[in-house]
Amino acid sequence: MPHDIEIRKQAFDFPPESAPIWHPEQPEWSHMVNGASLAMPYLEPFLIKTMREAVEQIEDEDLLTDVRHFIGQEAQHYTTHRRYNEMLKANGYPELADVEASMTRDYERFAKKSLEWRLAYAAGFETMTMGITEWLINHRDELFHGADPVVASLVLWHMVEETEHKSVAFDVYQSVSGRWLPRVWGLLRGSLHVGFLSRRGYRAMLKKDGKWHSLRSRLALWHMVAKFFVHAGSAMLRATLPGHHPDETENPQWVSEWIHTYQQRDTGEPLMLDTRRAGLPIG
Ligand SMILES: [Fe+2]
Ligand SMILES: [Fe+2]
Repeated sequence: MPHDIEIRKQAFDFPPESAPIWHPEQPEWSHMVNGASLAMPYLEPFLIKTMREAVEQIEDEDLLTDVRHFIGQEAQHYTTHRRYNEMLKANGYPELADVEASMTRDYERFAKKSLEWRLAYAAGFETMTMGITEWLINHRDELFHGADPVVASLVLWHMVEETEHKSVAFDVYQSVSGRWLPRVWGLLRGSLHVGFLSRRGYRAMLKKDGKWHSLRSRLALWHMVAKFFVHAGSAMLRATLPGHHPDETENPQWVSEWIHTYQQRDTGEPLMLDTRRAGLPIG
């Protein structure tokens, strides 16, 4: 049976008056998320292209269905993030265009690597994401309370869908290669690379804000980066075990609440998080 992976269109609006510092009390955290968002229109098309190439070698109909849905979800993600990123550039951070150009160059380079390398990168990044999903969802009150609900809802929608397709890149890697050592290398390479791409983005934004050399700001940033590593690291460690499969990772309870609320709603509007009560069940 294929996995339950639904392609949802969430038409978030990012009006020109949107604040790039979408969490007024946590500017460093805001820019960490902005940096990650900036990477998505470069990372996710790379994942899609890699999967499209791999399907030539896959015969399992269920896996082919999963891949189609994976591609559909990732395409929705990066096109939405791209619209958000355009707002960031128009709203005080035009220098992000240089960061984007460096991301283009990185993925042009990676396009020349073997399919096994690219699939290991894809599966590795997707595995690491599970740790971030668990962090962002289970700690959403601390991370999103009082924040711009549009950005919080965009991030959490993306995370929910990452849980739905969490095993697809891994299954494709296993089907095409299955070798353990390149998979573990891909896990490290994919996760750290995307982390560094995000860093290019938030460094540029914090420099623009005049905060990059502020000790107070740097400590706040390191505090969040440490949390990132704790959560990403535990997912990565789990994934290094030879018999590991992403389906063994349990999704946070809130994921099914989000999916249920999304299915019950009778409007075409995006499903929004009420950031005044971010810790409570949605809906
Ligand atoms: Fe995604
Ligand atoms: Fe993904």
